[in-house]
Amino acid sequence: MRTQVAIIGAGPAGLLLSHLLAQGGVESVVLETRSEEYVAARIRAGILEHSSVELLESVGLGDRIRAEGDHHRGIYLQWPGERHHLDFVDLVGRSVWVYGQTEVQKDLIKARAADGQEIHYEVTEVELHDDHVTFTDKSGQSQRLDATAIAGCDGSFGPSRQAVPAAETYEKVYPYSWFGILADVAPSTDELIYAWHPNGFALHSMRSATVSRLYLQVPNGTDPQSWSDDRIWDELATRLGHGQNGWKLTPGPITDKSVLPMRSYVQTPMRHHNLFLAGDAAHIVPPTGAKGLNLAIADVALLSKALIAKVKEGDERLADRYSDDAQRRVWRCTHFSWWMTTMLHTSGDPFDAQLQLSQLKWVANSEAGATGLAENYAGLPIGY
Ligand code: FAD
Ligand code: DHB
Repeated sequence: MRTQVAIIGAGPAGLLLSHLLAQGGVESVVLETRSEEYVAARIRAGILEHSSVELLESVGLGDRIRAEGDHHRGIYLQWPGERHHLDFVDLVGRSVWVYGQTEVQKDLIKARAADGQEIHYEVTEVELHDDHVTFTDKSGQSQRLDATAIAGCDGSFGPSRQAVPAAETYEKVYPYSWFGILADVAPSTDELIYAWHPNGFALHSMRSATVSRLYLQVPNGTDPQSWSDDRIWDELATRLGHGQNGWKLTPGPITDKSVLPMRSYVQTPMRHHNLFLAGDAAHIVPPTGAKGLNLAIADVALLSKALIAKVKEGDERLADRYSDDAQRRVWRCTHFSWWMTTMLHTSGDPFDAQLQLSQLKWVANSEAGATGLAENYAGLPIGY
């Protein structure tokens, strides 16, 4: 088999890249170890930045976001006794959309199917070489895929990251995890609540008018099954301030429980010869601030342009700059995610707690502080 770009991974980075390349007249083949059903249903991120929505809309993927997504002007930031609304539209003229990664995946899968995109699901033994990839297809046949370029979009556990020799890596592991639940209950808030509490951080997010998504800071190694539903709702009520100023958290049936460890990781360069890394294959952020999915989208927006110029015109200039260009935004988002995480998660140290509260009060009450958070949260323009 031969194609112009071999894409490893059918997550949001890989599928969106195949879509952008097709729109630019470049063909690709996507290889994915999991099944189509699995990649469409994997519950992960839920917030799309302004520029992610603009990009998806510009390539025909915005209809369902507009119809079924939920536009949010900002977020609530709170600590015991106080809740402040930060209005990103007023502060920076940009905003965010609540639209689950599962829905982004479904839209991409549908659009790629309508376009006749070749995607091989349930492949095994994927091996990267300079100008080709070998793999075993679903029926057990060994295959060789020759390509002008290879895009490593295979997330944090895929083989692409290791195929960049002598890469520099930067890593920070946090001493806490997120316990996430999905619940069949209307959200108790119109916009997301990020709550600092002496017991630990809590976040009230949502997926739709009838589905809530909530998170609790828990110690690393927590077994999600060791928490009863009542204990989860009680702790969420405490940390989110049930009863304060008449606000109520409405509990409901929990349909999913999972624990997510948190780390920051950056690998550079994001290119080695014909191999280009994008999304979680090159970097991981802790989830606070909802940057992971948006960063994957921003990477492939740059990468698609570089690969179209390289494959169609033999023009390597954007490809040569890709890693440096992408890393500017990667480090901005790495800093923002670290900052949100360390401002909101408790460490048990009373000195740290006072610094966090001071920082939160400044962000909530100073226009300069609020603008900095809003600019990063709503997202810098693609190409920043
Ligand atoms: P992925 O979505 O990981 O896609 C990579 C794909 O490559 C996968 O489909 C994988 O099966 C495939 N693959 C792996 N190995 C191979 C191989 N050898 N050959 C072929 N294919 C392969 N971000 C947020 O902003 N908010 C959140 O709440 C949030 N929650 C998260 C929860 C979890 C459990 C995880 C893991 C991540 C979460 N993220 C969150 C991060 C966000 O989901 C990711 O940043 C985003 O999925 C990155 O997209 P990607 O396409 O780069 O990688
Ligand atoms: C969600 C995840 C985040 O990391 C975040 O900061 C906000 C929302 C979510 O899954 O809904």
